[in-house]
Amino acid sequence: MPLSRRCVKVSRSHNLSPVYLDMDPGIDDALALYAALARLDVRGLATVAGNVDLDRTFENGRQLLQLAGRSDVPVWPGSRAPIFMSLHTAPEIHGPHGMGAREFSEPTAAPALSETPWQAWPALWSREPEPVHLIATGPMTNVAKLLWCLPEGEKHLTGITVMGGAVEGGNVTPTAEFNFYVDPEAADAVLAAPVPVSMVGLDVTWKARMPWSDVERMAHWGAVGQLLADALGWYGRHGEAVSEGLAVHDAVAVTAYAHPEWFTWEPMKLSVRADGRWRGTVVRVPGTASDRRPVRVAVDVETGPVMDWIMESVAHLADAAPK
Ligand code: RIB
Ligand code: CA
Repeated sequence: MPLSRRCVKVSRSHNLSPVYLDMDPGIDDALALYAALARLDVRGLATVAGNVDLDRTFENGRQLLQLAGRSDVPVWPGSRAPIFMSLHTAPEIHGPHGMGAREFSEPTAAPALSETPWQAWPALWSREPEPVHLIATGPMTNVAKLLWCLPEGEKHLTGITVMGGAVEGGNVTPTAEFNFYVDPEAADAVLAAPVPVSMVGLDVTWKARMPWSDVERMAHWGAVGQLLADALGWYGRHGEAVSEGLAVHDAVAVTAYAHPEWFTWEPMKLSVRADGRWRGTVVRVPGTASDRRPVRVAVDVETGPVMDWIMESVAHLADAAPK
């Protein structure tokens, strides 16, 4: 029975903190953004250079929100480059403009913010009635700068969920995942943050794959579904798919925040190597290391409920989007 958009009623996750997103849209970021909008209380989006340059990730963020009828969500432009490293992008996987073959041309109505997230968010969060949660699905450059600008971070953040890294494996080098490879110093700073950090890395995002049949179903879900189906088709054909389906890394990370019970977690003290051939590699540090707290690392996942949740989220958002 194909998933009919009309029958989809989704439960919004009411017992979760309000969410701020930091992304490098990017095709799997787009899927993650739409799932988050459908289920979570998304208060803001920052973009960072990663899959493509900052101008494109910023424009893509604004366009994706407009297409979904959510231009109410403010978008902040973040970092143009990693803290020390030169920028490394992935147009071969995400397309020249970050959305497959698509290049947005529609004007965006929402005002373009000029402050950076690390300038704006500390004051904003201090005025929030409750602590917020940050979900980061691009290189960690913005998040590291934010942590340096956020005095007493633990007061304002319930935690940070990070798509990045891997205990085993890599997709840029044999041992380094893209987000941590692009800005290893920022990734290391985030894994040493004085707030709860959950790392959702390739260990689970390579396992929980979206079947091609789900991508085909989305194509019938209006403008939002068509955009995702086209973009994910490009993404899958350009390297992020195997026979079992597509690795939709960032959408799995959003799901891990909303439903941690579908994942198996292990506490690990971690650092990220920045030097030479080990750039971006996650290494375990001894439990006695006093300069960092354990990170909650996703080491296994139940693919079925994760993919069902993502699809129901997208169907709901597509149904509610302007026609
Ligand atoms: O390694 C996968 C990650 O790198 C995802 O966030 C993808 O969007 C790219 O940014
Ligand atoms: Ca991303």
